[in-house]
Amino acid sequence: MTLGIVAALHEEIADLLAEMAPGARVEHVGMRDYHVGRLHGQGCVIVLARVGKVAAAATATALIHRFGVEQIVFTGVAGGLAHGLNVGDVVVADSLVQHDMDASPLFPRHEIPLLGRAAFSADVALRDALAKAARDWLAQHMASEVRPEWLSALHLGAARVHVGQIASGDRFVSSAQEVARLREALPNALAVEMEGAAVAQVCHEYGVPFAVMRTLSDAADDTAHVDFPRFLRDVASHYSHGILRQFLSAR
Ligand code: ADE
Repeated sequence: MTLGIVAALHEEIADLLAEMAPGARVEHVGMRDYHVGRLHGQGCVIVLARVGKVAAAATATALIHRFGVEQIVFTGVAGGLAHGLNVGDVVVADSLVQHDMDASPLFPRHEIPLLGRAAFSADVALRDALAKAARDWLAQHMASEVRPEWLSALHLGAARVHVGQIASGDRFVSSAQEVARLREALPNALAVEMEGAAVAQVCHEYGVPFAVMRTLSDAADDTAHVDFPRFLRDVASHYSHGILRQFLSAR
């Protein structure tokens, strides 16, 4: 069973790539490097998709067609949408929707034209395994893997794991006004990012089980552009590496 591991930004997979590097080979396809190797006894293909829905869809398609992966996990950061979520919390998707898809009045808002659906469900077993890995890593390992100044500045000791809807679109959301609009349009969405629902659509179309895990780097509000790069550099890489390591070693 080969697993595809995808992220939008280098920081989100750098540590995993370093861990897999001895013995791995790299194939360059469509302007992307696909790292083929083994991690914790599991055959993996790790790839940087880059940002946005098209990049994510193209990468997922190549993973399935060219590399024959049988499952896909997307890891990275997201902006928090729902009330009560905090930077440092983890959101594991149970469903994903493209918040910027709108072919109304021809089709209902958010519905993918001619596919007859707006939301795509993550694979239940992968979703639950990722959520468990995230809970275990937060409880057992985070304190020793994230620098103490970040743990206290962001109150990461109180970080929680949520399972729910993730909204994706080709826009970095960075205003309270847009957060309000997204909350109104998609009242169940917990987080917003730019790739997950595109991978979800491709995986749905090919019948490939998938899951998406996101660490909240910002609240998608007026300070999102400041919070996001700092979090990415100093915290997100530890989350991604730690949680996926936990996930792979429990398989
Ligand atoms: N990824 C991380 N933060 C985000 C935001 N605020 N909007 C879209 N994608 C994100």
